[in-house]
Amino acid sequence: MRSKLEWRPARVIAIENPAEDVRAVTFAVDGLRSVFDPGSHTNVKVVIRGQIAIRTYTVLPSAPGHLKIAVKLHPNSRGGSAYIWSLADGDAVEVTEPENRFELSWRASRYLLIAGGIGITPIYGMAKALCARNQSVRLIYGAKSRSQMAFVDELQGLLGDRLETFIQDDGRNFDLAAEFAALPADGEAYICGPHGLLEAARNLWRASGRSMSRLRFEVFGDSGRFAEQAFSVNVAAYDRTIEVRADQTMLDALTEAGISMIYDCRRGECGLCAVDVLDCSSAVDHRDVFFSQEERHEGAKMCACVSRAAGGSITIGTGYRPGAI
Ligand code: FES
Repeated sequence: MRSKLEWRPARVIAIENPAEDVRAVTFAVDGLRSVFDPGSHTNVKVVIRGQIAIRTYTVLPSAPGHLKIAVKLHPNSRGGSAYIWSLADGDAVEVTEPENRFELSWRASRYLLIAGGIGITPIYGMAKALCARNQSVRLIYGAKSRSQMAFVDELQGLLGDRLETFIQDDGRNFDLAAEFAALPADGEAYICGPHGLLEAARNLWRASGRSMSRLRFEVFGDSGRFAEQAFSVNVAAYDRTIEVRADQTMLDALTEAGISMIYDCRRGECGLCAVDVLDCSSAVDHRDVFFSQEERHEGAKMCACVSRAAGGSITIGTGYRPGAI
């Protein structure tokens, strides 16, 4: 089990709405040690149906001692975004010291930043940092409508014609193949957006023959092929069946039920929480970026922190022995 999270008491000191469906919340954090880089994230203890759960959010550029996050109110939210939207000035929460798994390399001759919707949150900080160091950068930013594009006016002022926006309601979409072809060999792309956008980018990047180390990405954990539904998990080694609510991850349901699990990122990136899929009465909704498309197609494993069954029941092997309960 993960043990290195360093929790800090915090309270809400500012609330803004940088887009019609996005709320930015600034916390004053007691004992915040680190100065953090763009792409960093913090964990927040949220309350869902009276239970504490942990949700992870990108931290925006913030003053020392403060952490600012921006959260889209998701219609299929498992409850985390609704909780953040319910916060008011002065409310107390707990957050962690920021960590970064989506770092700028600072080694590229040109940076292509790609944001889909609320995926702008890490990309916004990266754009500011790259501009501050006079790096060569282009940002392509897509959303359903302009009113849903957080920080777009500020980014327009910062980047000028190095920002191109793609509004789906206007019928515009990214041409990732052309964008990648325009990058020099030592150029890099950083992308944050929904699962489908990342999959398309990964496949095109791989097909272009470029080093995969020069494509860095972060995915939304809540963007799957199916809307969240409740399902049952049969844990073979424990001979137990655990119910997973629609607003709960499989990992949370298993750990709350006392099943010993290993995990780290809780974002579908590290693969530590992977379990064996022994049987599934519905489809497995893979929402990770750890497994390859081929591995997901084989369906032998899934990341418990983000992936879920599309209803019905699933039987898994955790690889651990029952004595750990
Ligand atoms: S904890 Fe990292 S992929 Fe699930």
